[in-house]
Amino acid sequence: MKHIFGALTFFAALLVMAGCGASSERRAYEYMPDMARDPAYKAFAPNPVTRDGLTLQRPVAGTIPRGFHPFHYGTGEEEATRAGRELENPYHASQKTLEEGKALFLTYCQVCHGEQGKGDGPLAGKIPPPPSYVSDRLMQFPQGRIFHVVTLGSGKMPSYASQLSADERWKVVTYVHAVLQGLGDRPGSTASKAGISGGSK
Ligand code: HEC
Repeated sequence: MKHIFGALTFFAALLVMAGCGASSERRAYEYMPDMARDPAYKAFAPNPVTRDGLTLQRPVAGTIPRGFHPFHYGTGEEEATRAGRELENPYHASQKTLEEGKALFLTYCQVCHGEQGKGDGPLAGKIPPPPSYVSDRLMQFPQGRIFHVVTLGSGKMPSYASQLSADERWKVVTYVHAVLQGLGDRPGSTASKAGISGGSK
């Protein structure tokens, strides 16, 4: 028994010495490299490991990408009204949001709606005239309804969902509502109608 322990201690010492010896001179020495270097499959390559033989797997049912806002509304008057009732603008009319909203408005909306949103943009003569944002009808639109228009389109107006992210759409909506319609910040905000500044979001 004593001999066995002696021998084991001897071999253990040898191993430790081997570890500190030649190999310590070699940098980036990989012990069991197969643990560090597993085979990487290309996204569209066949895969012997997965159940369906595909490398790229579908997301689990019901999951959504981070930052994605589901939009559960259809087109038409009824759905637009419902969106107006239910959706709340996550943005406040802060200076920063209004500046971003204005820049987006001038890029994406002004060409038809005009700089002041009166329906007199450069394209106005060539398309069915867009309504003024300060018409009696549009002044009644809650912000969620304008978001619905920009997301799905309305009548002759196309959807802007592929050009503008949900966040960008809300920023445009904030600008239209607060500045072009002159309605100030959304309810529940501390910023008054006149004081459209402060608050970052
Ligand atoms: C290509 C021209 C065009 C562009 C660009 C455009 N619109 Fe319109 N918009 C229209 C027209 C035309 C209408 C009237 C649609 C109708 O009633 O048939 C309209 C209507 C609207 C309405 C009222 C919808 C209703 O139910 O009466 C809102 C709100 C609106 N647009 C907001 C925007 C915003 C915000 C942008 C920018 C993201 C934008 N539009 C970009 C052409 C445009």
